[in-house]
Amino acid sequence: MVSHKISVIPGDGVGREVVPEGLKAVRAAAEVTAAFDIETVDYPWSCEYYTQHGVMMEPDALERLRDSDAIYLGAIGFPGVPDHVSLWEMLLPIRQQFDLYINLRPIRLLPGIEGPLRDRGPADVDFVCVRENTEGEYVGVGGRIRAGTADEVVTQTAIFTRKGTERVLRYAFELARRRDKVLVSATKSNALNHSMVFWDEITQLVAADYPDVAVTSTHVDALAARMVLNPQLLDVIVASNLFGDILTDLGGALQGSLGLPPSGNIDPEGRFPGLFEPVHGSAPGRAGQGTGNPMAAIWAASMMLDAIGEAEGAALVMSGLEAVALQGPYTKDLGGTASTVAVGDAVAAAIRGR
Ligand code: IPM
Ligand code: MN
Repeated sequence: MVSHKISVIPGDGVGREVVPEGLKAVRAAAEVTAAFDIETVDYPWSCEYYTQHGVMMEPDALERLRDSDAIYLGAIGFPGVPDHVSLWEMLLPIRQQFDLYINLRPIRLLPGIEGPLRDRGPADVDFVCVRENTEGEYVGVGGRIRAGTADEVVTQTAIFTRKGTERVLRYAFELARRRDKVLVSATKSNALNHSMVFWDEITQLVAADYPDVAVTSTHVDALAARMVLNPQLLDVIVASNLFGDILTDLGGALQGSLGLPPSGNIDPEGRFPGLFEPVHGSAPGRAGQGTGNPMAAIWAASMMLDAIGEAEGAALVMSGLEAVALQGPYTKDLGGTASTVAVGDAVAAAIRGR
C-alpha cells in the first residue's frame, strides 16, 4: 500500500476548523479504496505563531514542506498581523518559491445548492479558472518614497515573463482540449497596453498548437459580466494572477457560497509538492463557533488526492461531497444550522456508504 506524506498547515480562524474535516474525508476514502494511506505532519505556522515567534514559519519551513507529497492548508490571517505580512511570509512564498504556477479553481454549482442567479442552475455554472500563480501583479515589486507627505510616490509593478505567460496558457489549452475545447483568455489589452497586449500575443502564439481549441481573448471586465449573465458559455478561463483572483471570488459567489470553492496550487512539472486550500479566508469574525462550511476544504482535499495520483480516492471524496450538497446537512452560509463537524461527518459517512 502506498503511503502519502501530507504537510498540514491548519493556519488561522476557520482554517483550523475545516482542515480536520477535509482530512476526515481523505481518511474515509483511503479506507474505502484500501489502496493508499496518508501520513500527516502538522505545522503550527499561523498568525498566532507569528505573535509568539515574530515569524510566520520557521526558517527551514520550505525545506521541510518540500519533503512531502502535498501541502494542505486551512487559511491564513488574523487581526493583529497585517494581511500583507502574513501572506507575504507564508502563502505567497510557498506559491512562488515552489513555482506552483497553476492555480486551478473549479467553478461548479453543485446540485442541491441554490445559486444566486435566477434561471441558472448546475447545468449552467460548470467551468474552471486557470489562474497564473507565480508572477504578474503578485511579484511584490515596487516601493514607496516620501511616505506620509504630500509628495508621496508609490509603485507596484506587475511582471509578465514570456516563460511564465506561455506555460500557464499552454496548461489552459491542454485542459480545454480535455474538456469542451472552449477557452477564454482574460485580458485588458485596451488599457494595459504593455502587459496584456503581450499576454494576447502569447495567447495567439500558443493557440497555433491547439487548432482544435476555440480561444477568444475577452476583457476581464466584460468577462466578469459574462460570468453572471451567461455562465453557460464558459468552460475554461485562463487569467493572470490578479484577474484570476478576482474572477474566482465571483465564481465562488456563483457557487452559492464562498464556503464551497477550492483552490489547487500546482506545479505541473512535479518538482514541488502542490498546495491545496479553500479559496475562502480565515474569517476571523466567525472563527471559534464551529459553524464554518468545510465543503471548500473537503473539495480541496479531493483535488489534492487527484494531484498525488489517487484518482479513485479523489472521486470518492467528491461523490461524498456531492451527496451532502444534495441532501444536507448544511452550514449557516447555505441556510442550514449544522456544525462544521456535522457536515464533515456526513461527508465521511457518504464516502463510507459508497
Ligand atoms: C486567494 C487569496 C490570496 C490571493 C490572498 C490571501 C493573498 O485571496 O487565494 O485567492 O490573493 O491569492
Ligand atoms: Mn482570492
